[in-house]
Amino acid sequence: MLFRPLQAASFLLAFTAGRSVAQTYHGPEDPRVQTALTLEHPVNGISTTPAGRLFVLFARVDGSTGPQVAEYDRATNTSTAYPNEEWNSYTSGSDPATHLIRTNSQRIGPDGNLWLVDTGSPSFGAPVILPSGPKLVVVNLTTNEVCKVYNMGNATLSSSLLDDVRFNPLTGMAYLTDAGAPGIILLNLATGDTRRVLVDDASTSAYMPISAEGSLLHATGGAFEHVYADQHEVSPDGKWYYYQPANGGMSMIETKYLDQAFYNSSLAQVLSQYRQPYAHTPSTGGTAIDADGNIYVSDTDSQRIITVHPNGTMTLLVQDPRLLWVDAMWVDTQKRLWMPAAQLNRGTPFNNGTSYVVPPLHVFTIDIGIGPSPVDHA
Ligand SMILES: *[C@@H]1O[C@H](CO)[C@@H](O)[C@H](O)[C@H]1NC(C)=O
Ligand SMILES: *[C@@H]1O[C@H](CO)[C@@H](O)[C@H](O)[C@H]1NC(C)=O
Ligand SMILES: *[C@@H]1O[C@H](CO)[C@@H](O)[C@H](O)[C@H]1NC(C)=O
Ligand SMILES: *[C@@H]1O[C@H](CO)[C@@H](O)[C@H](O)[C@H]1NC(C)=O
Ligand SMILES: *[C@@H]1O[C@H](CO)[C@@H](O)[C@H](O)[C@H]1NC(C)=O
Ligand SMILES: *[C@@H]1O[C@H](CO)[C@@H](O)[C@H](O)[C@H]1NC(C)=O
Repeated sequence: MLFRPLQAASFLLAFTAGRSVAQTYHGPEDPRVQTALTLEHPVNGISTTPAGRLFVLFARVDGSTGPQVAEYDRATNTSTAYPNEEWNSYTSGSDPATHLIRTNSQRIGPDGNLWLVDTGSPSFGAPVILPSGPKLVVVNLTTNEVCKVYNMGNATLSSSLLDDVRFNPLTGMAYLTDAGAPGIILLNLATGDTRRVLVDDASTSAYMPISAEGSLLHATGGAFEHVYADQHEVSPDGKWYYYQPANGGMSMIETKYLDQAFYNSSLAQVLSQYRQPYAHTPSTGGTAIDADGNIYVSDTDSQRIITVHPNGTMTLLVQDPRLLWVDAMWVDTQKRLWMPAAQLNRGTPFNNGTSYVVPPLHVFTIDIGIGPSPVDHA
């Protein structure tokens, strides 16, 4: 319905507008972009260990079924449900506390564990199963077993979309974005206590719907698709928290204000005074940060990866027609940026239940010459 990528109008726009923003890019492929994985189904998250293990998140927006979280074996190009089939086997009636209901993101944290962000909502836009559905599930990569579950039921609303997590190892806090009900969730990792801040703030809200391949997205039923606080990063020195809604416009705030607001309700109420604009990013699929504090931002309209330098200046890293809705990215110890081209905009949630995803799908890499930020992951 929404996506007819080869429509004549798109071509005209592309040819007249050339490399400018917000149009689908039909220019040449960039040879620096290497194919790392070839897949039948969209993957919207990647993490790797220094020893070479690889974990993927299947988005299941193409109508496919099966595990969402999997370990991928590059020797055989096969994936295995992770941490096991049982956690990945949720159906209505399963215990929502001990099954992954719908995992929105996954990442290996600075502690070396795999962290799974479960929205607790069985399908995109469906109400969250409260209180035990929304959660952060921590898997020990040595034992391959769940070692901790942070219930997020007290910090989420029925309309929440628990989106993603980052860490501040210096203060023992984790920060989560809520893309369904605008806000940032502060989590004390030692106690499991939570607090919502920047609720309905301009910096966590979406003044425009998300856009991809030149078109605004619609939810099932036809309403414009607004995706609130989504992408976020913590600076390598732990000082700054960067965050934005998926339609772009990245803000920054010192983590000390977030961390103090966890205990100080007066500060929590005026927290928006302490945030400031950082970069005028476009509609974004995902981000990653490197050891120098550069943030890589995927532009879903124009198949680009933009580098936001620590001073907030944006430059173009790469533009390639294959970079179709690159979602959550990952920087590995070989100084490569992993780019899962998930084609999410072509999936069922944004096309009234029909999938226009074109297989095969690819996860690409590009050399960036800088490794991961240690506060992010090894
Ligand atoms: C696995 O996939 C990669 C990337 O598409 C490909 O280069 C490689 O030949 C495949 N290996 C096997 C065993 O199929
Ligand atoms: C994972 O489990 C192993 C074995 O119990 C333990 O030695 C290790 O510290 C755990 N890893 C983390 C990151 O907690
Ligand atoms: C949620 O809040 C209730 C009431 O304050 C409290 O009893 C419960 O322990 C909290 N649950 C979690 C997981 O923090
Ligand atoms: C709490 O925050 C308010 C508002 O910023 C500030 O005036 C007050 O000093 C803070 N209280 C403490 C104990 O830090
Ligand atoms: C910001 O940093 C980039 C990358 O280091 C540099 O090229 C640019 O000149 C800087 N911009 C300003 C305004 O300082
Ligand atoms: C979406 O699908 C439903 C059910 O098939 C249909 O009734 C409705 O008209 C469709 N809406 C749009 C905007 O295509």
